[in-house]
Amino acid sequence: MENSKIINFDYMKDIWNRISDMLDIDFKNMSVIITDCPHNPIPQRRELYKIFLNEFECNEVLIASTSALTLYGVGLTNGLVLDCGEGTTHTLPVIEGFSAVHGVSRSNIAGKSVTDYLQYLLRLKGHDFNSSSEYEIVRDIKERYSTLEMEQYKLDQFKLLENTPNDPVYVLPDGSQFEIRAERFLCSEVLFNPQLINSEQPSVLDCVVKSINKMDIQSRKRLMENVIITGGTSQMNNFTQRLSLELKNLKDKNTSHNWKFYNTRDYKSSAWNGAKIIAELNT
Ligand SMILES: Nc1ncnc2c1ncn2[C@@H]1O[C@H](COP(=O)(O)OP(=O)(O)OP(=O)(O)O)[C@@H](O)[C@H]1O
Ligand SMILES: [Mg+2]
Repeated sequence: MENSKIINFDYMKDIWNRISDMLDIDFKNMSVIITDCPHNPIPQRRELYKIFLNEFECNEVLIASTSALTLYGVGLTNGLVLDCGEGTTHTLPVIEGFSAVHGVSRSNIAGKSVTDYLQYLLRLKGHDFNSSSEYEIVRDIKERYSTLEMEQYKLDQFKLLENTPNDPVYVLPDGSQFEIRAERFLCSEVLFNPQLINSEQPSVLDCVVKSINKMDIQSRKRLMENVIITGGTSQMNNFTQRLSLELKNLKDKNTSHNWKFYNTRDYKSSAWNGAKIIAELNT
């Protein structure tokens, strides 16, 4: 997979076959819900239907967006879902249960961008994490300590001083230790400032604002009052607080409203909960 797109269907088929072995189920004659990202390429969806209907001989196949399922899973039918995952960030407006596909915004700035940038910042400090197992260490550091700073002046200070209050100590598998310093704040900034990695992709804030602006005026208020935040990267410290602050600072008349944010309790099962509701419907 790359940026939520399937790059190698043969590998994916191996994974699906393994799932069927592990769960001891046969896809034949079953109804299957497959999740994907809004705006994934249509040929990919065609290939998915082909594999599940022709090769696995399923009875019915539904390809549904994780975002819409997340919204149904929390019992809502109206809202703007912001999903910040590993390879993509996307926002999907849902009105009366229907996904407003024209309102989707998508960016390749997400968790992987933060991990890659943290790997680069650590390298500048003389800590080389190059192999794939070392990359997992960088990911672990990110998941434990990455934080979005709320005050710009503090961020500038961290850059200059390099260390921050209460720098945590990270213990490597070989027992050696080192302090995680300003980089735990600096790496997180990529989400709101993709220029840091010379990317022209939209930021998390851009995705939210663009989606709202693509919708008609009557729907905007309803969406701004129901922003559902999900995806692993949204677990980062201060994610929602920082988004809220950035929106307040925009002073854009289209978006100057009381935003209300809801964080999904368990992002790993949020789409599953929605899929369960759909699967239980009779029609
Ligand atoms: N506490 C945390 N702080 C920061 N990042 C985190 C935290 N927990 C998980 N992540 C990051 O969340 C990402 C995984 O999120 P998720 O499972 O939603 O992605 P995905 O659905 O596999 O990917 P995508 O939706 O982009 O295809 C990884 O980059 C992971 O490092
Ligand atoms: Mg995802």
